[in-house]
Amino acid sequence: MKNDLLLKALRGEVTSRPPVWMMRQAGRYLPEYMVLREKYGFFERCQTPELACEITLQPVDIIGVDAAILFSDILVVPQAMGLEVQLVESKGPFLPEPIKTGNDLERIRVPDVHETLQYVFDAITLIKKELNRRVPLIGFAGAPWTILCYMVQGKGSKTFDEAKAFCYTQPVLAHRLLQMITDTTIAYLKAQVKAGADTVQVFDSWGGLLGPEDFENISLKYIRQIVHALKEEVPVIIFAKGAWYALKEMAATGASGLGIDWCIKPGLARSMAGNNITLQGNFDPAKLLSPIPELKKEVNKMLNAFGNGRYIANLGHGILPNVPVDHARAFVDTVKEWEGT
Ligand code: CP3
Repeated sequence: MKNDLLLKALRGEVTSRPPVWMMRQAGRYLPEYMVLREKYGFFERCQTPELACEITLQPVDIIGVDAAILFSDILVVPQAMGLEVQLVESKGPFLPEPIKTGNDLERIRVPDVHETLQYVFDAITLIKKELNRRVPLIGFAGAPWTILCYMVQGKGSKTFDEAKAFCYTQPVLAHRLLQMITDTTIAYLKAQVKAGADTVQVFDSWGGLLGPEDFENISLKYIRQIVHALKEEVPVIIFAKGAWYALKEMAATGASGLGIDWCIKPGLARSMAGNNITLQGNFDPAKLLSPIPELKKEVNKMLNAFGNGRYIANLGHGILPNVPVDHARAFVDTVKEWEGT
C-alpha cells in the first residue's frame, strides 16, 4: 500500500501525521457526482460496479483523502432481506411496506449475500484494481439498530419513535429482527473483506436516540457480535452518533477505531475510550461552510486537541451537499499540512 496511514493509525502504529477522510465523501457536493446522478438512479449507481467504482474514486482523485469508502448505502441490507427500499428525491429513504407485526417478519429472511449483494463485492474487486494500492478501501454496513429504525419506521425521522415503540412494546419480535439483521450484516461484511475491503466501519447513526441501558440492549449487544466476527480479519471502526456515554463499552468490544461526533471534547472522549483504541472525528460538518481561513483555524484546533497518535481526522457526521469543493479540500489539506505533535 503506497499510503497506509489509515491502517497504521488503526493498528496503533506511529504515523508522520494523522490520516484524513470524510464520512459521505462520495456524494452531492462533488459536481462530478452530480453528473452521474443526472443520468442514473441511486440504486442503479450502487448496483453497477463501474459506476460505484467511479464514484468511490472521485474524492480520492479530487480531494486527496487518505482512504476510499465504498459507494453504496446501508439500506441495501434491508433490500437484500426482502424489503422494498426507495430513495425519494429531496425526501430520503422510503420503505412502502415497513415491519410492524410478527406477520411482517415472515416477509423477510437472512439472505445468501452472494445471491443478493454480489454487485457490492464485484464493485469492491473493481475498486481495488483501479485504486492500484494508492490508499486503503473502507467497507461498511449500518448497525442493526439503525437498520431496524428504517425497516420499522419506513422513512427517515428525527426521533424514530415508531421504531422505539416497536422495541419497547414487542421486544421478542424486535430482538428476532435485530438478530436477523446482525446475521446478514456479518455475512455481508465478511464477503466485503474477502473481496478486498481493508477495514470496515459500522454506522450507528441513530444510536444516540437510545439511553445508555437501551443502547446496550438494543444496539451494542449486536454491534459486539459484528466486531467479534470481523476483528481477526480487519480493523473495525464503530461510529455510533450521539452515543458518547458508551465509549468505554464500545472500546471494550475489540474494535480498532471509534468515530465520535462534535458534541464531546476530545480529551473526555480519550479518557472514556482509553489509550488502546483509535479515535476518529469530530469536525462539525456545518463548519465546512465557514470562510476558509476560519475553517483552517478550527481544524488546527481539533488536531491540536487530539494530537497525532491513534487518531484519524474526519467529520463528526456526513459532509453536507452544499459544501464548496475548495472548502472540503481545505479541510483535508489542513490536516496534511499540520505541524503539531
Ligand atoms: O460515505 C460515503 O461517501 C460512502 C457512501 C455512503 C452513502 N450512504 C451514500 C449515499 C454511506 C457510507 C452511506 C451511509 C448511510 N446511508 C447512513 C449512515 C451514515 C450517516 O450519514 O448517518 C445512513 C443513515 C444512510 C441512509 C440514507 N441514504 C439517507 C438518510 C439518505 C438520504 C439523505 C442523505 O443523507 O443523503 C441516503 C442517500 C444517500 N446515500 C446519498 C448518498 C451519496 C445521497 C443520494 C443522492 O441524492 O444522490
